[in-house]
Amino acid sequence: MQTRENFGGRLAVILAMAGSAIGLGNIWRFPYLVGQNGGAAFILVYIAACALLAMPIFMAEAVIGRRSGSNTFGAMKKLAPGTRWKWLGLVTVVAPLLLLSYYSVVGGWAVDYFMKACSFRFIGDTSGLFGGFISSTWEPLVTHTVFMALTAGIILLGVTKGIEKFTKITMPMLFILIVGIVIYGLTLPGSWKGVEYMVKPDFSKINAQVVATAMGQAFFSLSLGVGTILTYASYMRKEENIVSAGNCTAAFDLLFALLAGFAVMPAVFAAGIQPEEGPGLVFDTLPYIFSQMGWAGTVVSVLFFFSILIAALTSSISLLEVGVAYLVEEKGWSRRRSTLVLAFGTWALGVLCSLSFGPLSGVKLLGVGIFDFLDKLCTNWLMPFGGLLFTLFVGWKMSKADVRDELTGGGTCNRRLFPLLYFLMRYLAPVGIVVVFLTNLFL
Ligand code: PFF
Repeated sequence: MQTRENFGGRLAVILAMAGSAIGLGNIWRFPYLVGQNGGAAFILVYIAACALLAMPIFMAEAVIGRRSGSNTFGAMKKLAPGTRWKWLGLVTVVAPLLLLSYYSVVGGWAVDYFMKACSFRFIGDTSGLFGGFISSTWEPLVTHTVFMALTAGIILLGVTKGIEKFTKITMPMLFILIVGIVIYGLTLPGSWKGVEYMVKPDFSKINAQVVATAMGQAFFSLSLGVGTILTYASYMRKEENIVSAGNCTAAFDLLFALLAGFAVMPAVFAAGIQPEEGPGLVFDTLPYIFSQMGWAGTVVSVLFFFSILIAALTSSISLLEVGVAYLVEEKGWSRRRSTLVLAFGTWALGVLCSLSFGPLSGVKLLGVGIFDFLDKLCTNWLMPFGGLLFTLFVGWKMSKADVRDELTGGGTCNRRLFPLLYFLMRYLAPVGIVVVFLTNLFL
């Protein structure tokens, strides 16, 4: 049997988890959801969903991962042999692949914008740039293919570690660039309306749908409910503190999301773009900011889209890796075959998602386009459902002593915090998720 590698240390674990968490979800998805769901009030609900629902799930996944030391499917077989819990392992193999299919489409948009930045396209009038790109047939398909090929290539060549080394440069760079863009954006005339939109909550905007969307985004952004955190935690050493790894990951993740919101929203108002626009929001707004910056805009945009691309790749490889690990460890497939088959299947589904903005825009599933349907299915249903089962497993199936042992590092840390964490995992998070599910179904 192959011996499993462990992460080198605390920093390495946090970096890998943060690498999976921070991605298009922060920069692309968060700002447009803020715009569609009423601004500051949504942000408050989102923060509450992270603290009360997402964090306990994070801990639960990490507990299962480290206790079992194996992939999602193997973990269930090890910790609950001969039970139906193994089906949970399967849900978490399928969901990340569905998610990757449309994630790669948006990754493709980032590829396209990186190339546009390199060829000085963000100079002068940039209006209509995204609309023209997205409704065309071939350009988004080509860039989707490039993004998926990069993802599969990294996994195939086994250079995951290499790409993660990149993040040590690109993450801080992304941070500095976004802070710079925020500051610059605030100097644009009319931008203060956007700041108000981000900080002055209008509580009348909150409804069941908004809460469900916030919960889904918390799961999406922290990579929860699909076994990614479980798999990464399975490489964690016994001495690492799961609770502080979770807190650090969540804090960085939230920071990047809020910064992206503050980079985008003021410029949305300055440029007269509709905040409710949806998935294209960031791709419409950023070129406007860059075009206002003159020549510096080109430099900033090249660095910016390069960093986004790396951030997106460290997330997409974690999505593909869950399925690959399953096929290799449980079905005995070779790594090469697993990667190629899964990448091809998800790519094909992604083609439909990509076309749903253009030639297939008339195709509706439950009233929405293919891309939106898959996105809603994954974030509002599959990820919270996976998360629900993970907390139920830790709260009700595993022995309390084992859970305590994991969360307190064998009694060396978090001893006073443990009762609260256990309560959150056993009662609050599962009940909260079920309530959100039900209100979303019936209201
Ligand atoms: N958290 C990633 C992002 O915000 O872009 C997306 C993601 C990666 C979701 C890995 C789920 C996952 F397992």
